[in-house]
Amino acid sequence: MAKITYIEHNGTQHVVEVANGLTVMEGARDNNIPGIEADCGGACACSTCHVYVDPAWVSKLPAKDDMEEDMLDFAYQPDPERSRLTCQLKITDALDGLVVQMPEKQI
Ligand code: FES
Repeated sequence: MAKITYIEHNGTQHVVEVANGLTVMEGARDNNIPGIEADCGGACACSTCHVYVDPAWVSKLPAKDDMEEDMLDFAYQPDPERSRLTCQLKITDALDGLVVQMPEKQI
């Protein structure tokens, strides 16, 4: 279980508990948090689950694999350091306190 803070582009914060094994994308979807669309349902095939990870968390997350890296090229204004696809981030206790910020728009 991890407490995740999702910050909308307009600054609205949503703090929710997400169960281990789910993804950061599923945590947003299951709690009706706007700003993460996840059109492909988590298959790493759409880039509409893009967020900017809080700078303090960038180095604490598992590294991106090639598929995520490639798909991020299609995201709206990706940041080389902070951008991640939330469907590729699995919740573990280690992610407790994670803060992510949604982009202005998804693609
Ligand atoms: S939900 Fe489509 S890439 Fe993450």
